[in-house]
Amino acid sequence: MSIGFKTISMGIALWTMPFIAPAQDKAQAAPQLGIDPIDDVIAAMTVDEKVNLIVGFGSTFTSNYSAAIGNSGDLVPGAAGQSNGIPRLGIPTTVLADGPAGLRINSTRPDDPNTYYCTHFPIGTLLACTWDTALVRQVGAAMGNEVLEYGCDVLLAPATNIHRNPLCGRNFEYYSEDPLVSGEIAAAMIQGLQSQGIGTSLKHFALNNQETNRTGNNSIVSPRTAREIYLKPFEIAVKKAQPWTIMSSYNLINGTYAAQRSDLLTDLLRHEWGFEGMVMSDWYGGRNPIEMVLAGNDMIQPGHSTQVAAITNAINQGTLPMDIVNRNVAKILEYVMKTPRFRGYVPTNAPDLGAHAATTRQAAAQGMVLLKNNKKTLPLKAGARVALFGTTSYDIIPGGTGSGDVNSAYTVSLDQGLSDCGFSLSEKLSQSYQDYAAAEKAKLPEKDWFSTRHLIPEMPITPAQAAAYATANNLAIITIGKSAGEGSDRYHDEYYLTDAEQSLIQTVTSAFHKQGKRAVVVLNIPGVIETASWRVQPDAILLAWMGGQETGYAIADVLSGAVNPSGKLTMTFPMDYADVPSAKYYIQPDLYTGDDHNAFVRHQPVDTVGRGTGAYESIYGEGIFVGYRAYDTDGTEVAYPFGYGLSYTTFDYKDPSVSTDAEQITLTFTIKNTGRVAGREVAQAYVHAPGQDMPKPQHELRGFAKTRLLQPGESERLTIQIPLASLASYDESTSSWSLEPLPHTLESGG
Ligand code: BGC
Repeated sequence: MSIGFKTISMGIALWTMPFIAPAQDKAQAAPQLGIDPIDDVIAAMTVDEKVNLIVGFGSTFTSNYSAAIGNSGDLVPGAAGQSNGIPRLGIPTTVLADGPAGLRINSTRPDDPNTYYCTHFPIGTLLACTWDTALVRQVGAAMGNEVLEYGCDVLLAPATNIHRNPLCGRNFEYYSEDPLVSGEIAAAMIQGLQSQGIGTSLKHFALNNQETNRTGNNSIVSPRTAREIYLKPFEIAVKKAQPWTIMSSYNLINGTYAAQRSDLLTDLLRHEWGFEGMVMSDWYGGRNPIEMVLAGNDMIQPGHSTQVAAITNAINQGTLPMDIVNRNVAKILEYVMKTPRFRGYVPTNAPDLGAHAATTRQAAAQGMVLLKNNKKTLPLKAGARVALFGTTSYDIIPGGTGSGDVNSAYTVSLDQGLSDCGFSLSEKLSQSYQDYAAAEKAKLPEKDWFSTRHLIPEMPITPAQAAAYATANNLAIITIGKSAGEGSDRYHDEYYLTDAEQSLIQTVTSAFHKQGKRAVVVLNIPGVIETASWRVQPDAILLAWMGGQETGYAIADVLSGAVNPSGKLTMTFPMDYADVPSAKYYIQPDLYTGDDHNAFVRHQPVDTVGRGTGAYESIYGEGIFVGYRAYDTDGTEVAYPFGYGLSYTTFDYKDPSVSTDAEQITLTFTIKNTGRVAGREVAQAYVHAPGQDMPKPQHELRGFAKTRLLQPGESERLTIQIPLASLASYDESTSSWSLEPLPHTLESGG
């Protein structure tokens, strides 16, 4: 008896499902995946079938690069891509969909009354600021369940590139300037997602730290810097969580496309780190498909007919060895056998969106960071009358744009969040913002897939108006919103406050202060912005990030004290952009302003499928001194340091004990809540290396842990284990990791 495949119709989607076929004469039947050895299945394939597996589904019909990117599947409309099936060999088509903040598929389908909304979870940066791997696993499980129930096989996430520079347009998808945090959070996300029986694609491998000219950028980096900073998050995540797939990145590394480097995709990833899965390209990544196959970039997505032709030719002419092709095909088949489609899972198209909304609200509140809270301005007094300023207060930004966006059913804005949590808002002010927004939005250009959200300028508020609102209300809340998205870095107005935003903060805070009332700033932003010039003015600042569809509720939870903030920064907020260690090597934020954000990208020559053809180098001249590794070593003053975040309570650290064995250092200590409200604390362990063999940062994060919710007076004993191997530095003279046999200093705190 053999298992074949039939295609049945469900609504408008086609599902490939196993069924029991009548017994056949084994000698004549084609081998079947999952029944017969993979080698037999490969041996039965024609060259065309092999190439069809290597090159994704887009190849059969894609002629237009821009139209296809991000939406080339048809089994699940709106999914980013598909791998091709070979029904005669029992190989189903599989579906690959974005992305890091939730599943990105179309929410409606033609001639179908049903909706396919997905939960918009918080951006990756916010999730990392929770420092809570258990919570991230929970978010991953909820997200993964939607992937499964909507009939997808792989979520193209998580994304764990290092925050090298605050201007990178996709930092919101990424986690941190620190490799340990980036790796641990990515590992937790993979574990959560894959617990649902679907796959992940850890991306973008590697050294993809800018969007400007992203498909032609050449990252020039030393082996030590690559190993210790940029590859480390991937190493941690691969070793801890074994993602089903890894996505190679667009950029070149030291002159060769990442997708064409066998030292990266085969020697390091598989032989050294033990990666067992499949590598796929980023969408239209790489240039030479033959080199990609040779390097171990098993699958090329979304696939293009020119790639099919080139690979087929090379095989037929004998320039691409068949054993290499078979090696990659085997990896693809091993992946396919794990998928829900291969297992015959029948998706319900009905995930529990209500439960997932609760998860995203909880996670969003846990990752918000309280930057300032003078005179206990927060939490707000119950039922306070609030004058709510800022256009994004009424139109909160749930996340970034591009492949990291999500088609959710709704987004809760801050006005709704505050009113539903029992605060009364100035109706007059709300009405004037609504009228203003309606008029301004009508003037905005249409958003295309590659543009960040077009935001309307801040509404001017005169001192007299601000004074009147101060008289009529108990306090002011001012939201500052900034947008970011795939395909473009952040420039002047996205890093600095605009004049209108500066003036709004100034006018409102001074009017409220004159009447002895407080003003709070809420930052609804995708990444680091300039804060040093204005932060003295408000009484409190809440860094809310972008919390997904429940952002308004999550902010209200923190402002009201229903949730005590416990998020801590996973990156540094510098005093000045010029202090950023990579600033002199990176795109300058003041080069492009206003509508000209994408000028650099637009004006470069492009090839037939829209990819930049210029030769652009990005020199990683700051080496391993990224973020706090530079500021702390040089003693540079920063606005808010890495690891920083306030709470409504206080904590004491006591009874530390340290023990060391041949494998690891074990640090144990007690954290006590010494304040008046329940709260959670993030403990961080840093190691200072002697640095006699090579330059070392002042200290480096080597471990962290978060307490449970501690009631006032309650304590918890935490343990942080630091593997000795993780203290080693990469010695370029021997191409190996080396640990100085000298005393290291351990520092810990929160
Ligand atoms: C992005 C990837 C994404 C892919 C599919 C690319 O443009 O870089 O992160 O997964 O598109 O949408």
